[in-house]
Amino acid sequence: MPTEIPSLHAAFDNKFKIGAAVHTKLLHAEGEFITKHYNSITAENQMKFEELQPEEGRYTFEAADEIVDFAVGKGIGVRGHTLVWHNQTPEWVFQNASGAPASRELLLSRLKEHIDTVVGRYKGQIYAWDVVNEAIEDKSDLVMRDTPWLQLLGEDYLLQAFQMAHEADAEALLFYNDYNETDPIKREKIYNLVRSLLEKGAPVHGIGMQGHWNIHGPSIEEIRLAIERYASLNVQLHITELDLSVFQFEDRRTDLTAPTAEMAELQERRFEEIFQLFREYESSITSVTFWGAADNYTWLDHFPVRGRKNWPFVFDQHLQPKESFWRIIKG
Ligand code: GLA
Repeated sequence: MPTEIPSLHAAFDNKFKIGAAVHTKLLHAEGEFITKHYNSITAENQMKFEELQPEEGRYTFEAADEIVDFAVGKGIGVRGHTLVWHNQTPEWVFQNASGAPASRELLLSRLKEHIDTVVGRYKGQIYAWDVVNEAIEDKSDLVMRDTPWLQLLGEDYLLQAFQMAHEADAEALLFYNDYNETDPIKREKIYNLVRSLLEKGAPVHGIGMQGHWNIHGPSIEEIRLAIERYASLNVQLHITELDLSVFQFEDRRTDLTAPTAEMAELQERRFEEIFQLFREYESSITSVTFWGAADNYTWLDHFPVRGRKNWPFVFDQHLQPKESFWRIIKG
């Protein structure tokens, strides 16, 4: 007799939410699987600026509405992703009518309009928003990432965005979200940024650690130090985009049709250790979202090597639990 498969999120019910990044096609194909195992969902792309407002004043809410309606109907929470980012944001946002760079005034009014419309539409239905995504530079000699937001508005854009989001939905938890968040140098930059926003009175309620990690790194100790540093600001922590690639970033091999035994074993051990760590910090960590639902679909199939399969989750390509699943639910 096949073993009864327990619900993933139920194993963490009194600790933190367990989420998956989804798109509408995935909800059609795997709605039941997602509902069983996840109690939070995030739109992988369908709530990004270019998807919601491709042209000024023309909003396309069909897909986002479908995701929110699905979640509300099933009693699943929604994490909103994302309001201010340098990618997947249309060029018109940063230009005036003649194609020259928008003035500060124009850009701020567009930002406010977008946030009011989007956050306002889902008020009470989205429990947390990634208000600003990836504003910090990776290169160690620079702090802020050089983006049109920074060029046209200065550093103040973050404070403005958080205030606007809070005005649009005072109940939603507002997050600053970033990757390479365990790197000691970037970690301090993120810490300082959020600390200074809090000192200015910005309504920042949490830090999103994306968690695009792999089976070799970052070390558990580096993850622990980042969690402790961010939690010392007395904000909530969400793991927002967790996946454990079976390849190191530099590894461009394309010959595998399945993970090697060594990869699988390392991944199991890492998932176990990482979730043990999350449990240790359950008073700060309130949500853990995988950047996908199962190994049949992951953005890593196209990054950093286009068309190379990856297997970064705890469910396999047939939506069946991997050994990692059994290890993390054990607790
Ligand atoms: C970043 C973004 C996500 C997504 C991933 C890649 O982490 O925050 O929205 O685009 O890159 O899929």
